[in-house]
Amino acid sequence: MSSVPEAIAAAAQALKRERLSGLFARDPARVAGLTLTWDDWYVDLAKERLTPGALALLVAHAEACNLAHWIDALFAGEKLNLSEGRPALHTALRQHDDAPVHVDGVNVIPAIRATQARMRALSADLREGRRLGATGRPIRAVVNLGIGGSDLGPRLVCDALPPASARMPVDVAFVVNVDPAQLTRALAPLDPATTLFVVTSKTFTTQETLANAASARAWLVGGLGPVRSVDMHFVGVTANVPEALAFGVRAEDTLPLWDWVGGRYSLWSAVGLAIAIRHGYDAFAALSRGAAAMDAHFRTAPLARNLPVVLALTGWWNACALGHAQRIVVPYAEALARLPAWLQQLTLESNGKRVTRDGLPVSGPTAPALWGDTGTDSQHAFFQWLHQGTHDVPVEFVVPVRAQQPLADQQALLVGNALAQAQALLVGRGGDTLRRELAAKGLSGAALDAAVAARECPGNRASTTLLLPTLDAYNLGALLAHYEHRTFVESVLCGINAFDQWGVELGKTLSKPIIAALAGGGAPDASVDASTRGLIERARKLLQE
Ligand code: F6P
Repeated sequence: MSSVPEAIAAAAQALKRERLSGLFARDPARVAGLTLTWDDWYVDLAKERLTPGALALLVAHAEACNLAHWIDALFAGEKLNLSEGRPALHTALRQHDDAPVHVDGVNVIPAIRATQARMRALSADLREGRRLGATGRPIRAVVNLGIGGSDLGPRLVCDALPPASARMPVDVAFVVNVDPAQLTRALAPLDPATTLFVVTSKTFTTQETLANAASARAWLVGGLGPVRSVDMHFVGVTANVPEALAFGVRAEDTLPLWDWVGGRYSLWSAVGLAIAIRHGYDAFAALSRGAAAMDAHFRTAPLARNLPVVLALTGWWNACALGHAQRIVVPYAEALARLPAWLQQLTLESNGKRVTRDGLPVSGPTAPALWGDTGTDSQHAFFQWLHQGTHDVPVEFVVPVRAQQPLADQQALLVGNALAQAQALLVGRGGDTLRRELAAKGLSGAALDAAVAARECPGNRASTTLLLPTLDAYNLGALLAHYEHRTFVESVLCGINAFDQWGVELGKTLSKPIIAALAGGGAPDASVDASTRGLIERARKLLQE
């Protein structure tokens, strides 16, 4: 009898040779066997290169990886981030009861509740005009300065939720890049007297964020004069309170997070302050409730009916058993325009790893490259490549069905296009029907052959479709939480630590002497490779011109 990994490898080989249409023809119960529901969600895996039998093998693989134990360990706050000796307790942030959760013997729930109360009060003060700047005028604009997890999550949610009213009580902008163009453009329409900066940085050492914060301070001083207390125009969100205080954020304006919150899992903490300011604290709480509902499902549902688990198994199957090096996510919702970027950090920073938890080389590929953009725009960009290109990449369609703001019949157009694209990838176009159509137009011989070849779409391309009832705070919270859990499950299946990111450090370290050299601090070290030395010299000259 073969082992589970051998059986999975054999199933993958067999299914690679099959056409998806053949799988539908062979199994009339295929859709029922490969459809999942949760709450009002409907997830169609029938268009994946998968069978209920192969899925059962994948569930057996998850059991062999002891997945149930790892899920319990995640929620219990075990130090799953081994290389940094920390738990990953983003689930505690959105827990709605006060059941204790311990880190090193300390119950973290009271500190979470206290911070949430401060977020509620601060966001209400800002929205209701009670937070005053140094000149006594109410704050009217908030700029979040942060990068990575200190930007992507809050920005995605701020963009995704429908505005409660046409007029925003406070404008919220995000400045991420150290490229001076972004801060300069963001500040151009703003008045220093009525602008507040939220410096969001877990470490409060991130080069880009601190550079933007320093420039923001200079802008405030320039606009308000050095005698005014510019500190009134800053809020800090950080796990490094001493550094925030040293920068000049007042203690009462410093909101904590903790080292057991991973940067890319941090939007549920005070990092989500921008969300509460932009949409109100109640919307932030509804987002958390959706995430908590998904947490409860993930924690308790049997593996075979557990949405994040089954979707992670499908992702792992595509990447590790079928060998797809990429995955594409296409949200059919303008509100989710930032979803692919958020998912890139979530999946690639978490699972872009090459060694196991024990430091041994992994036995196969880990996270596939992830990219995507909104539909229907992307139908007029990279979908041609999907339909007729030589690469075969599984696509995930994320479709909130009911519009946030209906307009004529446009939502049906949007949703209809999503379903049609998934169908087109499956069925393709070609064969006798196409040939007959073209022949009827008068083509024949070599011209007919060429016309058929140019128009033929092979189809047989896999996809998942995720239908959500609508995109409100609750469903968005559940959506983001489900992706977090999928990412975690994929890490368990690959045997890796999803919660560190040591690879990012190398670039940070190497940038320092290069930046110093560009700023005129002398020639680069002789140990710097010749190519990089050449680039530094050239850039230095241009900067000095
Ligand atoms: O990219 C590395 C990283 O550490 C991310 O994990 C994190 O989200 C981002 O930088 C920003 O870090 P911080 O919140 O500490 O400024």
